[in-house]
Amino acid sequence: MEISFRLNGEDVTATTDDPTTTLLDWLRDRGLTGTKEGCNEGDCGACSVVVTGADGPKALNACILFLPQLQGRAIRTVEGIAAPDGTLHPVQEAMIDLHGSQCGFCTPGFVTTMAAAHANGCTDHADQIAGNLCRCTGYAPILRAAKAVETAPVPDHMRETPPITGPQILNSNAFHPRDADELAAWYADHPDATLIAGATDVGLWVTKQFRDLGQVAFLVGCDDLKGVEIGADEIAIGAMCDMETLRHAIAPHFAGFAELLRRYGSVQVRNAATIGGNIANGSPIGDSPPPLIALGARLHLRRGDARREMALEDYFLDYGRQDRRPGEFVERITIPRQPDDLRCHKLSKRFDQDISAVCGAFRLPVAGGVIRGARVAFGGMAGIPKRAASVEAALEGAALTHATLDAAAARLGADFTPLSDMRASAAYRLAAAEGMIRGLVHDGPDLLAVTP
Ligand SMILES: Cc1cc2nc3c(=O)[nH]c(=O)nc-3n(C[C@H](O)[C@H](O)[C@H](O)COP(=O)(O)OP(=O)(O)OC[C@H]3O[C@@H](n4cnc5c(N)ncnc54)[C@H](O)[C@@H]3O)c2cc1C
Ligand code: FES
Ligand code: FES
Repeated sequence: MEISFRLNGEDVTATTDDPTTTLLDWLRDRGLTGTKEGCNEGDCGACSVVVTGADGPKALNACILFLPQLQGRAIRTVEGIAAPDGTLHPVQEAMIDLHGSQCGFCTPGFVTTMAAAHANGCTDHADQIAGNLCRCTGYAPILRAAKAVETAPVPDHMRETPPITGPQILNSNAFHPRDADELAAWYADHPDATLIAGATDVGLWVTKQFRDLGQVAFLVGCDDLKGVEIGADEIAIGAMCDMETLRHAIAPHFAGFAELLRRYGSVQVRNAATIGGNIANGSPIGDSPPPLIALGARLHLRRGDARREMALEDYFLDYGRQDRRPGEFVERITIPRQPDDLRCHKLSKRFDQDISAVCGAFRLPVAGGVIRGARVAFGGMAGIPKRAASVEAALEGAALTHATLDAAAARLGADFTPLSDMRASAAYRLAAAEGMIRGLVHDGPDLLAVTP
């Protein structure tokens, strides 16, 4: 299999028999050892590179990025961040001048992540580097360096030319559909194959579990599955929409959802992870299902030319079991347009770059002085993301008061029997979820959709 992309300004073709060769391994085998391996699971950012596709430059973790995901894209590793004549990138200059590096192990990852943020004009520096760990220097000098270059011009070599085109990658093990129709036809004929979207789950099956994935399809070329369409009645999100794109697209409509997504992994993870993967994997602790369920989202599945849809909550049947048939894939998710009264609370051990212990999403619309059409959904409280039917019943028709919320919180035990695991004990999860419900009263009346 041959994969063509541009690497530090030069067109290259990588040849491999294994479609799950990671970019990190390939780079280091090639002698580009500036890209470091820390965790090999997307957590530390030491392997960050800049990848430019049709949607511009993005920081991505090379350790969980498979070579076929790079077809036709342009990559800059830390070796290619300085200009071809050796002039340092403004970020590199600032890191030196402001003492942003000590042992230097993390530094290549910081520099590439910051160069991508600089190219995109981002000034939310703490969010931009939340996925990069440094254990010597401390973050203050690094943040100062990022701030110092805010107005520095983007060097010409960082404005990559449009991606080069290459042949469709196809061998007996790996398929690279160019759109949803090609994917649908192939997957219906190969229902045992593994679909690979952003690989922020699947990557770890390879790097941590050493699994042989057999036949795979890379969905990265399905541009028709990437969009977010804001319609008059609904918002339609393509399955291949990445979390960072979704975060920005959804912010004007559901600010609480966008804020939750800000805490989803790191910028590198959000640039790769897709909404389709986050739902399809059926994880009980995925962050997008609770808000989507609270918003009454519908899931659209496709097998060949046959399509069906369902309420998202009906997709999750039991732990590890979803209502998805062989050869069927997630095509899109739709959210009915509604007032922005969604509130989301994510509880994790760390603020950034951590998986939820409990994630709650709440809609408590008030009409005529009482709650009408309450929708409450939790992740981390059961084997699947789930609505809290008893809590909703306790809220329905009641005035939004402390007493109502207390009574509703007391019903949680009827809806959930949470597990104890490394993230939290069952008792803690229950207490935390109760606290989220009681605390809703503090979220402020301006966040409540109160209609006369
Ligand atoms: C460092 C790190 C931090 C993370 N932080 C968070 C977090 O804060 N919150 C959170 O919820 N998750 C988090 N995750 C988990 C992960 O990002 C999500 O589960 C992610 O959304 C998966 O999407 P993906 O596109 O990467 O899926 P992939 O890894 O490509 O695929 C995941 C699964 O979904 C299937 N699949 C993918 N797309 C489709 C489709 N269209 N139709 C049918 N099946 C499909 C795949 O076959 C596979 O079984 C984190 C992961 C990492 C590595
Ligand atoms: S090596 Fe840690 S994120 Fe890739
Ligand atoms: S400088 Fe040593 S880990 Fe950051």
